[in-house]
Amino acid sequence: MRKKIVAGNWKMNLNRSESLELVSAISKEMKDIDLKNNRVIVAPVSVNLASVVDSEKDNRIECASQNMHFADSGAYTGEVSANILKGINVNLTLLGHSERRAYFNEDDALLKQKVDAAIENNIEIIFCFGEELDDRKAENHFKVVESQLKNALFHLKENDWKNIVLAYEPVWAIGTGMTATPEQAQEMHAFIRNLVKENYNNTIAENVSILYGGSVKPTNAKEIFGKPDVDGGLIGGAALKADMFVEIIKAM
Ligand code: 13P
Repeated sequence: MRKKIVAGNWKMNLNRSESLELVSAISKEMKDIDLKNNRVIVAPVSVNLASVVDSEKDNRIECASQNMHFADSGAYTGEVSANILKGINVNLTLLGHSERRAYFNEDDALLKQKVDAAIENNIEIIFCFGEELDDRKAENHFKVVESQLKNALFHLKENDWKNIVLAYEPVWAIGTGMTATPEQAQEMHAFIRNLVKENYNNTIAENVSILYGGSVKPTNAKEIFGKPDVDGGLIGGAALKADMFVEIIKAM
């Protein structure tokens, strides 16, 4: 059975002590929450990852990297590799975030290389994708999402999908306060699950968690997460405040 997941993408926010403070506050506030079928993940900036991992002794909050390079090591100034992440006990990474695509020119071909490197190193991937506002206005959103998935993920073997979580994040909803309606999210998530089914099989489609991201707040989380194909969320702004993030966790 697929798990429900709430993941906080801290983006380029919080220094080391602020990061430690936040993870400790989240941990305290969620101590009574049953995580049997749920996962809580945070993605701090890379220089603070090791400190946050080490501080999270009971392992109830998992840590993810926000990015990962495709090479194992080498002359790639400023990057981190799978091997480096594993060295600090991080086995999970975001890939393909729209900010990486927009500001750092990450395209489908590069993301495919990163996906392959993560899979080869047994690093679980939260793969982010989603259309821009113009795509939606032109009613191209299904096509865009399909090509993002086809180009970077649909070459994977069936067995690789145990290490894939999908995160649909319409770019127009990120940091704008303009959330997709629960119905828009459900429509797209059902489309995505069906694509996985067509390209693989029903078991893989039913087992993959598909998260929604884009202006999720305590006020709208319950309604969005209540849709049958929405398996939780990837949270930006509201993940930076322990009380808001824990409210969102409770909504799952
Ligand atoms: P916001 O929740 O701030 O819209 O950000 C979403 C996001 O980009 C998570 O990766």
